Amino acid sequence: MEEFIQNLPDLDVSCYVRNMSTPVLVSIGAVVAATTYYLATRSRPLPQVCDLQMQSVEVQGGDLARRSVLLTTDSPLTHIYDDATTLYEFFLRGARVSSNGPCVGSRKPKQPYEWISYREVIEQAENLGSAFLHKGNSKTADSHIGIFSQNRPEWTISELACYTYSLVSVPLYDTLGTEAISYIIDKASISTIVCDVMDKVNLVLDCINNTKHSVRTIVLMESPNTSLIERGQQAGIHILSLMLSVMLSDPFLPPSLQPPQPKDMAVICFTSGTTGKPKGAMLTHGNIVSNCSAVIKITGVRLLPNDIHLSYLPLAHMFERVGVMLIHGARIGYFQGDIRRLSDDMKVLKPTVFPVVPRLLNRMYDKIFGLANSPWKRWLLEFAFKRKHSEIMKGIIRKDSIWDKLIFNKVQASLGGCVRLMITGAAPISPVVLTFLRAALGCQFYEGYGQTECTAGCTVTMPGDCTAGHVGAPLPCNIVKLVDVPEMNYLAENGEGEVCVKGTNVFQGYLNDPERTAETIDADGWVHTGDIGKWLPNGTLKIVDRKKHIFKLAQGEYIAPEKIENIYMRSDAVAQVFVHGDSLQACLVAVVVPDPDFLSDWTRRTLGLQGNYLELCGRAEVKAAILEDMLRLGKAGGLKSFEQVKAICIHTELFSIENDLLTPTMKAKRNELRQYFRSQIDELYAGIKM
Ligand SMILES: *[C@@H]1O[C@H](CO)[C@@H](O)[C@H](O)[C@H]1NC(C)=O
Ligand SMILES: *[C@@H]1O[C@H](CO)[C@@H](O)[C@H](O)[C@H]1NC(C)=O
Ligand SMILES: *[C@@H]1O[C@H](CO)[C@@H](O)[C@H](O)[C@H]1NC(C)=O
Ligand SMILES: *[C@@H]1O[C@H](CO)[C@@H](O)[C@H](O)[C@H]1NC(C)=O
Repeated sequence: MEEFIQNLPDLDVSCYVRNMSTPVLVSIGAVVAATTYYLATRSRPLPQVCDLQMQSVEVQGGDLARRSVLLTTDSPLTHIYDDATTLYEFFLRGARVSSNGPCVGSRKPKQPYEWISYREVIEQAENLGSAFLHKGNSKTADSHIGIFSQNRPEWTISELACYTYSLVSVPLYDTLGTEAISYIIDKASISTIVCDVMDKVNLVLDCINNTKHSVRTIVLMESPNTSLIERGQQAGIHILSLMLSVMLSDPFLPPSLQPPQPKDMAVICFTSGTTGKPKGAMLTHGNIVSNCSAVIKITGVRLLPNDIHLSYLPLAHMFERVGVMLIHGARIGYFQGDIRRLSDDMKVLKPTVFPVVPRLLNRMYDKIFGLANSPWKRWLLEFAFKRKHSEIMKGIIRKDSIWDKLIFNKVQASLGGCVRLMITGAAPISPVVLTFLRAALGCQFYEGYGQTECTAGCTVTMPGDCTAGHVGAPLPCNIVKLVDVPEMNYLAENGEGEVCVKGTNVFQGYLNDPERTAETIDADGWVHTGDIGKWLPNGTLKIVDRKKHIFKLAQGEYIAPEKIENIYMRSDAVAQVFVHGDSLQACLVAVVVPDPDFLSDWTRRTLGLQGNYLELCGRAEVKAAILEDMLRLGKAGGLKSFEQVKAICIHTELFSIENDLLTPTMKAKRNELRQYFRSQIDELYAGIKM
């Protein structure tokens, strides 16, 4: 996602300021006239869904956790329409409420959009799904189908093909890289992969590269050429076109459909973290349905079959899921696959729903202000913004004021001119940019916050709340609590702490990865996000920080203990080290476990001392020599003097999972270590002060 966002182009918002006619620009009289006109045409505010000064409330008896004020009980929402409890049913409902209207559409360069109806999508998905079964996939075999493609109608059809027979889809994407893709294929034992173009098939074959693998079939959305088919044969893989695969299934004896239940797995969404292998978050139909239903409930948005969504953000990420469209029988238009033509696609498609990421909004904002290149233009732009902003603060959202006609209509037209709903997420957005664009674009504009582990959403801003700088209230499908992070001085009783989420949108764990699952989701079902949040007085959440093991020393220097430990651990004498400090102390101390295998050899070499491990560990000169060696390495490793420890104590039992000082993935449990060594640490500090 990051890389994709980096490459986003500018939307074409050019000229709208430059082309404003000079008389309008310079005449104060015009401004006065405009104000009069604006007062005369002002429209009524949107009805509010709740008291914006009270957007969430505490749940009964639970850790100060909070729920959406739109929920009348503490149990989270599962679904909003009884005939839409799985993603499969979303399509059926869409077909019904739109009376089989257009579902997905795409276009060739310079052509209009061509649409496929709901019924056709459902039928094509049945055929493709039965080809998946024909190729040996089944619900009982727990089959996972890889989808490796740009956003396009076949993506959605492939996904529905899986759901029609209770198979599970696993999105793959380029930026994972070959190593991660082969890891995922293996981890999820993927046997069938749907690819859009031959390059992707080649990439999959590179990933597999003659090793033992699970892939049996690759379905290509275009026609494979003979050399590709041969390359597949050598790897034991049948490569065929989507068209052909559909013909494989017996038209006279189609398998009976096996629609999923809400509790059944729908998608395994692999995310690549900063470290380690990708993790496959398992999401059920119920997870996705609840998240989607919560967004509908909170925004009160009832889309209509003539609503149009532009699909261009990577479908492999849960943020860009189109359930809200399908459930209402609305249509999804796909971009041409080339982000540089996005502007053109927008103008042709005229979407009404437009999800965005902050980077795109920042570009729009910079461009608009970049074009207001004279003091007058800038003054007028800001004047117009202020007028519209004050309207928005009263809950009036529109595109037909005089300021829209004079100033903002070009930027609105660059998005097709019909956008009525936008949502930003995936990264923080600057309040200044969001507030300006809310005024300039004149549509409902939400900010959401969440992670894949909660199906992309945990909070979203309320309709009518046009203040920025927070991420809204909990979605009605989950409750949110903040948990103490004492080392960073965030305490739940002060309304601050690590954001933890529990509800019907919370994932089922990482595929075949109990250890990392246990690190993320605790025994009571709370997902620990690693983000630090703060409750605002009106019940909205503000994300203020990221949890890391960083603390400040008394004089205000920041310390990242893990970095220091990694340097000290290079000493041959040291097996493990725990560096401690806090904001009441001016220096660091450490608990060191000497290396049982190497200590005696090391003391013989450096001190000429022999002896057994416990004996050596007890000697003061050994302790002094270890500290000296650590400080030497610290200096060589570029530690600043305040990052070096002032004193150490020796401990002879390794930190381990058994003694509860390490996590299952062998990371230090810093809170436990701090408690465990409390008295030694106190002694060390007492010794330094003397
Ligand atoms: C098949 O397509 C690939 C590109 O995807 C190309 O490099 C190759 O030359 C083609 N082979 C034949 C026989 O056309
Ligand atoms: C495939 O594996 C061979 C060795 O088995 C190696 O030489 C080659 O570089 C690999 N190719 C790719 C694309 O990884
Ligand atoms: C979940 O909710 C968030 C809003 O917080 C939304 O951005 C996201 O698209 C939703 N995910 C799905 C799968 O509907
Ligand atoms: C909610 O509270 C925050 C912080 O006090 C404030 O900035 C924001 O304007 C408030 N929102 C509403 C809708 O009043």
